[in-house]
Amino acid sequence: MVKKKKKKIRLKKQAYYLLAILVFGVVGIILGINFYNDFTYKQTDEYKLMSKGYSLDETKILLDKLSADTILSLIEKEKDETVVGLVKEKYFLEKNLDRYLAYILDEEEEDLTDVVAVVNVGADKKWYEEELETDISLKEKMNVNKFYALSEEYTPENLVSIPLDYSYGDEGSNQLIDYAYDKFIDLWQAAHDEGFYLMVTSSYRDYASQKDIYDYRKATQGERKADETAARPGHSEHQTGLVVDMTSTTEPLDTDFSESEAYKWLKEHAHEFGFIERYPEGKTYLTGYSPESWHWRYVGVEAATVVHEENITYDEYYAFYIAK
Ligand code: DAL
Ligand code: ZN
Repeated sequence: MVKKKKKKIRLKKQAYYLLAILVFGVVGIILGINFYNDFTYKQTDEYKLMSKGYSLDETKILLDKLSADTILSLIEKEKDETVVGLVKEKYFLEKNLDRYLAYILDEEEEDLTDVVAVVNVGADKKWYEEELETDISLKEKMNVNKFYALSEEYTPENLVSIPLDYSYGDEGSNQLIDYAYDKFIDLWQAAHDEGFYLMVTSSYRDYASQKDIYDYRKATQGERKADETAARPGHSEHQTGLVVDMTSTTEPLDTDFSESEAYKWLKEHAHEFGFIERYPEGKTYLTGYSPESWHWRYVGVEAATVVHEENITYDEYYAFYIAK
């Protein structure tokens, strides 16, 4: 009897030991996992950014928008509020980050939306400072401005004449690329249905005629003034065959087109036909040109709708959505 009892007690003890080992084991494993998790979390960029003072939201947007190399450089210095502000900008492009920061310093510019826009379109450089080749394979989406240029030889294919019902000048003197012409006619008709009678005053211009226009203005007004209103040869959108300068016969003769009802209608509806106002009021610092209410560029309905809805210039559109 006594033997049996002793054996029972021994068994009970062993069970307790086993249980204790099990409990310690489990606790140990849990602590180990926690330690491991903690250790690995501390190696993450998220942890490192947050320990520099970036909030969780800021950290998430930085990780979303920036490459590993840029994150590394942020981790190596004090929290940079300007970078956070820039990254939050809708049209932020990481490849331009250093130029945004340089522009802010050089120009003491505080409006980050403007900083991003100026640098994206290249206007942190002097106009014509660098010459880039226009990518003509983009067709109606090609960009021609004070940096992007067409060659002297470039002539668009499939130019068609705009009949004198819709244009001033001699028969055949106004031309557009065929697909832009078709959309121009749709636009013209829709404007006409609203009581406006649009007339084209200029459209396709070859390199040589643009040179004549620019040289004349330069000779009569000086280079600075000429550059505000006329493109240098190769840099004119008119050479693309995708542009119409328009006026309206429905307004009194002395009406400035920008004050006309026809212009107001175009501003609301031209994008539905793929046309955009290329040099709007208040955007000279981005386009390099004084406002031209008469100059409408065909870019296709999709791009025109984005430009219209986001209220951006084509230069900004091109930088963000095409060249990236
Ligand atoms: N007037 C526009 C900018 C041109 O010359 O193309
Ligand atoms: Zn024009």
